[in-house]
Amino acid sequence: MERYNINKITVSGVSAGSAMAAQVHVAHSSIISGVGLISGPPYFCASNSLLTASTQCMSQPPKTNEFLDNILNKVSDFKHHSLIDDTDNLKDDRVYIFSGKNDLIVKPEVVELNEKFYKKFMNESLIKRNYDTLATHGMITNFFGGKCDELSVDYFINNCDFNLAFDLLQFLHPEEKFLKPKSEQKVTGRLMEFDQSEFFGDFSQSELVLDKTGFIYVPSVCEESECKLHIVFHGCLQGKFRIGNIFADKTGFNQVADLNKFIILYPQCMNSTSNPNGCFDWWGYSDDNYSTKEGKQIKVIKSMINRLAF
Ligand SMILES: *[C@@H]1O[C@H](CO)[C@@H](O)[C@H](O)[C@H]1NC(C)=O
Ligand SMILES: *[C@@H]1O[C@H](CO)[C@@H](O)[C@H](O)[C@H]1NC(C)=O
Ligand SMILES: *[C@@H]1O[C@H](CO)[C@@H](O)[C@H](O)[C@H]1NC(C)=O
Repeated sequence: MERYNINKITVSGVSAGSAMAAQVHVAHSSIISGVGLISGPPYFCASNSLLTASTQCMSQPPKTNEFLDNILNKVSDFKHHSLIDDTDNLKDDRVYIFSGKNDLIVKPEVVELNEKFYKKFMNESLIKRNYDTLATHGMITNFFGGKCDELSVDYFINNCDFNLAFDLLQFLHPEEKFLKPKSEQKVTGRLMEFDQSEFFGDFSQSELVLDKTGFIYVPSVCEESECKLHIVFHGCLQGKFRIGNIFADKTGFNQVADLNKFIILYPQCMNSTSNPNGCFDWWGYSDDNYSTKEGKQIKVIKSMINRLAF
């Protein structure tokens, strides 16, 4: 993977990938200026517990305000110990939150906690909510996937006749008026594999539980001129180990990238006995610091950003 001329960095993700996007954003808010959260729990929801992850952070929304208060206290603590960037960096960022009305896997009440979380750090005019689609749990497109309101276990991608990738990226970049791709618009750039293990540093693949290969989409214009970087984290069961390049090819981000000068990076998680569904770490299977700058997976992602942009 090579260096490009990058002028702005944003992240997004689906489900567990949404949790990962929030982690990367909060950990590195000094370099990341916006986040798209699709059907996932708020930052540090699981609090190092698989049980909390699989209950209160999915289908059993917490009933008290204390739940979010505990998360916010932890954020202060992380900030105090410099385990995350200063949360003041969040105040001019943008946050896009999507939850489908028919999502029974990560219920809308859980996803909406992202809104309460980010409101503590920024003006609510910088947060866009989209809770009105009749979608089930998954990534939403206007050209590919199963029926909008039926869980689609092949790829967890649903066709709701809505261009979520466009809506999300446009909101995160208010300074530009984007061209909107037509559904099924052909891309002209290159969707490439890259060697993720170059970024593993001192960690082994088995402790990181990341795939040796990731995907990157580069429109030809970005080979020469300045572009934005957007990083998309897939959800559980959506990694290369299970569905190849379907997530990187069929979620609609590349079409938006092509018309509006983005490079799209798709880091790939792996499955293992500790992580059988290949979810990015949002409950602590790889280490206790998983949600901070010290987290192993986040360190690898940061190395990728350094290579691409700095
Ligand atoms: C939030 O932003 C809106 C719109 O820009 C503005 O009218 C309002 O005064 C802001 N609120 C705060 C508390 O800064
Ligand atoms: C990982 O996923 C692949 C493909 O779905 C499967 O064949 C393999 O058994 C899984 N490995 C583990 C450790 O879960
Ligand atoms: C978490 O990070 C802190 C601070 O860098 C470090 O002291 C601690 O050993 C880390 N814990 C793990 C499990 O890596």
